[in-house]
Amino acid sequence: MDKLRITGGRPLEGEVRVSGAKNAALPIMCAALLTERPLALANLPQLRDVSTMGKLLGQMGVGVERRDGGMTLQASEIREPTATYELVKTMRASVLVLGPLLARCGQAKVSLPGGCAIGARPVDQHVKGLEAMGATIAIEHGYMHATASRLRGARIVMDLVTVTGTENLMMAAVLAEGETVLENAAREPEVVDLARCLTAMGASIEGAGSDKIRIRGVRSLGGAEHRVMPDRIETGTYLAAAAATGGSIRLTGAAPESLEATLEKLREAGARIEINQSTISLEMSHRPDAVGVRTAPYPGFATDMQAQFMALATVARGTALITETIFENRFMHALEMQRLGADIKLEGNTAVVKGVERLQGAKVMATDLRASAGLVIAGLVAEGETVIDRIYHLDRGYEALEKKLGALGARIERVS
Ligand code: EPU
Repeated sequence: MDKLRITGGRPLEGEVRVSGAKNAALPIMCAALLTERPLALANLPQLRDVSTMGKLLGQMGVGVERRDGGMTLQASEIREPTATYELVKTMRASVLVLGPLLARCGQAKVSLPGGCAIGARPVDQHVKGLEAMGATIAIEHGYMHATASRLRGARIVMDLVTVTGTENLMMAAVLAEGETVLENAAREPEVVDLARCLTAMGASIEGAGSDKIRIRGVRSLGGAEHRVMPDRIETGTYLAAAAATGGSIRLTGAAPESLEATLEKLREAGARIEINQSTISLEMSHRPDAVGVRTAPYPGFATDMQAQFMALATVARGTALITETIFENRFMHALEMQRLGADIKLEGNTAVVKGVERLQGAKVMATDLRASAGLVIAGLVAEGETVIDRIYHLDRGYEALEKKLGALGARIERVS
């Protein structure tokens, strides 16, 4: 199995281009299920999760045609409205086919995702919302069997803020009869990007980006061309890496307005940040100052940036409190960072991170995608060699990671 070998201790310097957002690409690919016409996507990241989603849609009978940096999807007919356990267990975002399948075919069979390394992650809000729209959903043998003759618009107040839950219901509502209002909706930029794509396909959606989204159902949707937004988490990851190593980098093709909370925290840590349209430059000329973060739904500080900021805190001047409020088990990286010499104490959902002057390379294990990113940053900072095992997690969500870090001067290689 592949591992990543990093020889740390060198500041990141140079320029790289940000890729399209994984968490926007995945729901947008599912939107192709809503029409028999082609959906042409550009700026799609080259990632394992994107291939997995292509495979899942292909199994249903969707035509999948890859082009350089893009993909055209065409669901002329849907033969098999099913997402199997084998695929859903490798990628939870597979559950995003539920809403569109139900809207388009009146039926869907989607595996329950089960547990996951970062928490329980149930899908009760997806189910509750679809039921409010008139669907019947029975759980049998680990699968959700959903049926509906035609979904009806409804007012749905979600019990908690869920990103894929909001996306699933929005995709179901665009073809429902009448108006749907989603309250306590997720405000993440990826929800807005999906709404933009659906609107280009002919949907009527108001309020995406706020906590109240109003969708007027239409009879059918057409094809569209859509450019996937830049990945704000990839952007934040490289910025945090540059800040932790005392580097100076430029990221092009980014969407600075989508990562205000991250940029603010990096400034608080002492980084100089300049923004020029879609380019972000960061320079860190001293050891970072400790900054505490508390994860929250957008526009709060993203849980997907928590591990990277923990890595930053391990070498900061002072003590940082890192509180995780979205997922109950998203501190696995803390124990691995301790192996690199970090001083971290876990107290419930808060990590107390006392910055040390230096980390030392060691063998560590990746447990999920963003934990892996945190370990990469810690490895880039640590003196000597760090070997990260189970990097298949990274391939799910970071396009050409070694190449991009290599271009920034990091000594990093993939070893078998
Ligand atoms: N939740 C429920 N019931 C539901 C849905 C969610 O209790 O029906 C809970 C979850 O267990 C969690 C919280 O609500 O505690 C928020 O979960 P959410 O549904 O927002 O997460 P998600 O939609 O499954 C997306 C991203 C994650 C990101 C979270 C939070 C995609 C494909 N995934 O997941 O990204 O961490 O939102 O922002 O959009 C990643 O990219 O590494 C990743 C995990």
